[in-house]
Amino acid sequence: MNTDYKVGDLIYDADIYDGMNTFLSDLSFYKKWMPKNEDAKILELCCGTGRLTLPIAKEGYNICGVDYTSSMLEQAKARASEAGLEIDFIEADIRTLNLQEKFDLIFIPYNSIHHLYKNDDLFAALRSVRNHLKEGGLFLLDCFNPNIQYIVEGEKVQSVVAEYTTNDGREVLIKQTMCYENATQINRIEWHYYINGEFHSTQNLDMRLFFPQELDSYLEWAGFNIIHKFGSFKEEVFNDKSEKQIFVLVFNK
Ligand SMILES: C[S@@+](CC[C@H](N)C(=O)[O-])C[C@H]1O[C@@H](n2cnc3c(N)ncnc32)[C@H](O)[C@@H]1O
Repeated sequence: MNTDYKVGDLIYDADIYDGMNTFLSDLSFYKKWMPKNEDAKILELCCGTGRLTLPIAKEGYNICGVDYTSSMLEQAKARASEAGLEIDFIEADIRTLNLQEKFDLIFIPYNSIHHLYKNDDLFAALRSVRNHLKEGGLFLLDCFNPNIQYIVEGEKVQSVVAEYTTNDGREVLIKQTMCYENATQINRIEWHYYINGEFHSTQNLDMRLFFPQELDSYLEWAGFNIIHKFGSFKEEVFNDKSEKQIFVLVFNK
């Protein structure tokens, strides 16, 4: 079995990413859970190009963003400076993060934990969160709720997942195929990129799936108390039909 897990460069090419990810439907959820004290310190892990970091900083929060993809961080820094915002963007792997600082709230948004392929990767990231969280601080996390029907259908057909024009003028069409590995819980997704009408490349987007009961247990074993588990950003209670697993957690000393 091939245990080389990958995310292609084009997936996290900042302009290609930003052209596709213009939505902000998760922002009000994250804003709602921010601490009320003005001197609160916030840490966003896997911040990418700052899609959420910038609007949260605009609210007046002292927020720091961490990501290990330099092109995404470059874009985040450029966007922050254009908006006149002072944000600390740090290039680091969340599994080995050591900022020597504690935060009132930490969050890992937008399905980013699906890139933590092995249990040890997840456990290392959760250790980092614990080490950087103040006592009583909140930890927020969102990811997909694995949908077996979606995967079965997704393996049968190639479907268009996005069609848009980037800021730098490229017309992008993305078609998706997938193949789920039963043993590793990795969904081997491939995105086939067509740029300006011509096939450009196939990019891997491997995603580790976390089943609801296992994820609850991992978080609890790592010392977190689940205060809420929602199934949508409207804070509907997590249930059988939920597309998402959205956690509000507190570290239990
Ligand atoms: C789906 S994007 C989310 C970006 C941004 N938070 C947003 O909401 O648009 C996932 C991000 O996670 C980053 N990432 C994945 N694994 C990481 C790790 N181990 N350490 C740091 N960043 C990581 C990728 O570089 C990418 O920018």
